[in-house]
Amino acid sequence: MTQALPYARIIGSGSFLPPRCVSNDELAADLASRNIETSDQWIFERTGIRQRYLAERGVKTSALATEAARLALADAQVDASEVDLIILATSTPDFVFPSTACLVQANLGNKGAAAFDVQAVCSGFVYALTTAEAFIRAGRARCALVIGAEVFSSILDWNDRGTCVLFGDGAGAVVVKASAEPGILSAELHADGSQMGILSAAGNVAYGAVTGDPFLRMDGQAVFKQAVTVLDRSAREVVAQAGLQLSEVDWFIPHQANSRILTFLARKLEIPLEKVVMTVDQHANTSAASIPLALDVARRDGRIQTGQLVLLQGVGGGFTWGSVLVKM
Ligand code: ACO
Repeated sequence: MTQALPYARIIGSGSFLPPRCVSNDELAADLASRNIETSDQWIFERTGIRQRYLAERGVKTSALATEAARLALADAQVDASEVDLIILATSTPDFVFPSTACLVQANLGNKGAAAFDVQAVCSGFVYALTTAEAFIRAGRARCALVIGAEVFSSILDWNDRGTCVLFGDGAGAVVVKASAEPGILSAELHADGSQMGILSAAGNVAYGAVTGDPFLRMDGQAVFKQAVTVLDRSAREVVAQAGLQLSEVDWFIPHQANSRILTFLARKLEIPLEKVVMTVDQHANTSAASIPLALDVARRDGRIQTGQLVLLQGVGGGFTWGSVLVKM
């Protein structure tokens, strides 16, 4: 056990997208070849999505996660050997086991860090970040790699136009280090397992075969209503927990599910849209990867500066949700 420092700070970030970018028009043409009708107009008007990045068949989540992790470590100027905790959020692990976190650890050449996966679907990154913060504040880790990574295309039913147009693949990572200065200011996580039916991929591998449904299924309108309700409440709670006002937050990074959820939420919270980081148009919904991807984009393009307050919010299957308020 190491000596506890009072805070945990994000000191670097990185992200990685697979090289194949598929526009709405390209996707619509591909679906049309199988007599499934959709259009750029339908997708963009309902979701704000213009394109998504899709991994080639056979490319695994650990490969995307490793690239994002390497970039985050380089950004933080931390050697992989210094990392003593790896938490990876995903719903599309490479294997039943070992965890994808262990595979990334091996790829990075790290030995001995605790490594495990977190499964909270699109809330996975805020769950993982909150867990890393708790480890660090308890003195059980000093330097954590927190990753959100998905090959979500592998669990989509490409014959279901209601879901397959919404998602993409990718990975984002942050390095979180023990610090004498405040970093993560407050956090809160929730779940309501009784609502599993509105968003699930209710399949498994058992007895040598896939059992149940291996594809993502969603009641889109129920998810929409639930997401805006819980994110509104959670944003207010996490900011109050830190003794701050919503108006003091510099940047909002909600899970990038779709732009209508984001704009509706911003209106409810009376947040100007200029303060909301939106990448869903470029990346589509990358589940556990969406928040660290958006955070990295906004750090690298100079929007998010050291010392600013950033509110990260996840929501997704389970049903799960949560928020983390960060001083960068
Ligand atoms: N292209 C063209 N038409 C489509 C498509 C498509 N890709 N998908 C569905 N339609 C059709 C439907 O068949 C239906 O046709 P009908 O009226 O002839 O029956 C019509 O469009 C309306 O379908 P709805 O499902 O009612 O469409 P809705 O307006 O609710 O939009 C959407 C669907 C975008 C998913 C919406 O419900 C939504 O924004 N939900 C939020 C949930 C979400 O974003 N989930 C992402 C993952 S969950 C998460 O990350 C937390």
